[in-house]
Amino acid sequence: MTSMTSRPSRPSPTSRRKLLVGAWKAYLNHGEALSLARALLPLSTRATASRGDDEPGFELAVCPSFISIVGVQQILADSSIQVGAQNLYWESENGAFTGQITGEQLADLGCSLVILGHSELRALGESDEQVNRRVRVALARSILPIVCVGESSSERDRGDAESRVSEQVLAAIDGLSAEQVAEMAFAYEPIWAIRSRENPDPTPATPEQAAAMHRVIREALAKRHGAAVAERVRVLYGGSVGPDNAGQFVAEPEIDGLLVGSASVKAQSFVGILEAVADAA
Ligand code: PGA
Repeated sequence: MTSMTSRPSRPSPTSRRKLLVGAWKAYLNHGEALSLARALLPLSTRATASRGDDEPGFELAVCPSFISIVGVQQILADSSIQVGAQNLYWESENGAFTGQITGEQLADLGCSLVILGHSELRALGESDEQVNRRVRVALARSILPIVCVGESSSERDRGDAESRVSEQVLAAIDGLSAEQVAEMAFAYEPIWAIRSRENPDPTPATPEQAAAMHRVIREALAKRHGAAVAERVRVLYGGSVGPDNAGQFVAEPEIDGLLVGSASVKAQSFVGILEAVADAA
C-alpha cells in the first residue's frame, strides 16, 4: 500500500484510462447539439469503446443538455462516444418530481456518466449533502458520477484551497463503501479558471497546480478508503482547457483526463483537445 504522505506511485498506462468529457452546459440549442454530434462522429474511431476493460487508449464522452441527450445518442449510437448528463435528481426512481430527471430515466436511456456538483450548480445553492445524495443514485444506477470540486479565488488567496477541496471530496463520499468510491470519478475545477460570462478570459490552473490538487484529492480518498481505492479513481481537470494547453495537463500522471466546457462546443477546438489526449494515452 502506498504511504499516505508520499506521492502516489506513477500509474501504469492502463491502470487509469484517460477520459475526455465535453460538457456542453447550456451553450447549444437542440439543432446545434445535433450538428456538433454529427461533426464529432468521425472521432469515435479514436476512442476506446467502453469503460471497465483493460484496453489501452482513452474514453470519450459528451454531456449535452437534457433536451438533446436522446437526439445526440441517436447520432452517436454506433460509435464509441459515450453520452452522459449534466446532473440527475437525488430520487432514484420516477415519481412526482416536476422538472427533475431521475436516475431511473437516465439509466433507461443508457447514459453512462453524469456530471455532479458543478460549481455553476453549487452557486445556485447545491449543497455537499445534495451532491452526496445524487452520487448515491448514480452509483445505484451504474452511471459513472463525475463529482466536480474546486475552490474560489478568494479561498485560494486565503490559503484554503486544499482544505475546501478535501472537504468537498469527503462530503461527496460520505457514507459510501470503498467499493462504491472506487466506481466514482472526480473533476478538479478551480472556479477561477472556468470560462463564463462574468469571467470570459480566465487564467487556467497551471498543470503543476492542477496535479498538486489532484494529489490532495487522492490523499483525501486514501485517508478514508486506502491507497488502492484512491489509485483507481480517475481525477479529471477542468477550467479553460483548449487545444493549446490540453497536452500539458494530460502529460501529468496525476491528471486522468479533462472536463471541457466552452472549447468542447466547437468541433475544431474539441478535435484539437482530443488529439492531445490521444497522444498522451
Ligand atoms: P470551461 O468550463 O472549459 O469553459 O472553462 C469548464 C467546466 O466548467 O467544466
